[in-house]
Amino acid sequence: MRMSVIGCGYLGAVHAAAMASIGHDVIGIDVDAGKVAALADGVAPFFEPQLEELLQEGVASGRLRFSTETADAAGAAVHFLAVGTPQVAGGHAADLRFVDAAVDALLPHLRAGDVVAGKSTVPVGTAARLTPRIAQTGAALVWNPEFLREGWAVHDTIMPDRLVVGIPQTSAGEEAAALLRDAYAPAIEAGAPFLVTDLATAELVKGAANAFLATKISFINAMAEIAEAAGADVTLLADALGHDTRIGRRYLGSGIGFGGGCLPKDIRAFAARAEELGRGEAVGFLREVDGINLRRRDRAVQLVVDALGGLVFGRRVAVLGAAFKPFSDDIRDSPALDVAVRLRGLGADVVVTDPAALENAAAAHPQLGYAPHRDDALRDADAVVIVTEWDQYRRELTPQHAGSLVAGRVIVDGRNCLDAAAWRAAGWQYHGMGRR
Ligand code: UDX
Repeated sequence: MRMSVIGCGYLGAVHAAAMASIGHDVIGIDVDAGKVAALADGVAPFFEPQLEELLQEGVASGRLRFSTETADAAGAAVHFLAVGTPQVAGGHAADLRFVDAAVDALLPHLRAGDVVAGKSTVPVGTAARLTPRIAQTGAALVWNPEFLREGWAVHDTIMPDRLVVGIPQTSAGEEAAALLRDAYAPAIEAGAPFLVTDLATAELVKGAANAFLATKISFINAMAEIAEAAGADVTLLADALGHDTRIGRRYLGSGIGFGGGCLPKDIRAFAARAEELGRGEAVGFLREVDGINLRRRDRAVQLVVDALGGLVFGRRVAVLGAAFKPFSDDIRDSPALDVAVRLRGLGADVVVTDPAALENAAAAHPQLGYAPHRDDALRDADAVVIVTEWDQYRRELTPQHAGSLVAGRVIVDGRNCLDAAAWRAAGWQYHGMGRR
């Protein structure tokens, strides 16, 4: 099937490469000429496992092309909208200017019978607002939200755990759903449920899913606050809760909380839209979810300060991690970097290391010290704080090896990912978050 993907960021670049890998003929469009040139050369503009292999295969096969010209999207049967919807400056709502610009640019190239499939995360009601403009061309607008996780984006795109398509209640809507069913045939044959809904429900599914995940993480982090006061261990609590199949262990990882380009902004945009709909109180709890989450960063900083006797000024602190999570070089709203920046603000001599995100971190926060190699960051540190649970820190770093490098055996485990007993046995002062 001929497809276009408008917007080649995390979502669009992966979607384009994944669709080409299952046999479609795909053109990716982006306004950023540098990004388009890199993608056309088979180079991923960001770190994402498997993406580069897929880009190279797709480009070499001729099934995957990239362009800065929206006109090159003409002739595709499906046009996926995959542009960003950041938080507006000075507010909590989603900024839809890139969605509107993409639609404006696409309109002159649409033909009757084409399908425009929105993938971007948008406030409910956006598709209804865009529909009249697109319908004028004879094309149909559907909403097909993505649920991909960074670090697993290729897998989540090719083998999603469900596909959701919101369609208008018209025969064109039914035809569009059938076309998308064909587009995703391999995933459907492999068992992925294909759910057809109205447009508003499809838009809501994405916001609700992210709100639920964020709530689950903040729930366990709220329990961490209680556990800390009560002298309990939140990781054991999470294990015990997780065995209840109604609850499940996933997204009960406690620590410095969630960040990234999606969860924080999406729960705020969701709440802002609920306010506009006059139902703000229905999601008032999301303010608490956000608040609990942000408090975790304060708590991690406080643990380092306390561990160093109340003053970090001039003390060397090794910060292990900068990305908002492992297997990513994404530092957008990264709690890891936030902790580093705050410690630096208190006068600590901060040295940050990360296997993938160092370049992005250094560009955004030139005031921090950086060490490309983990051991260089650890050397002579008065305290170590682990803020992104990369395997290099969680599994491969032993307390003995770390102990041979540092000046002081003090570790704050901001992701509750280390074996506290093993570190203590090796003579470390270990501080988890909500752990005894
Ligand atoms: C998320 C959703 O998972 C995805 O479905 C949606 O499409 C986009 O937003 P992503 O931002 O890639 O994906 O990251 P995710 O793996 O969900 O993690 C988000 C944040 O939560 C990270 O900072 C992570 O460290 C944190 N997290 C996750 C926890 O603190 N505890 C957990 O148990 C899980």
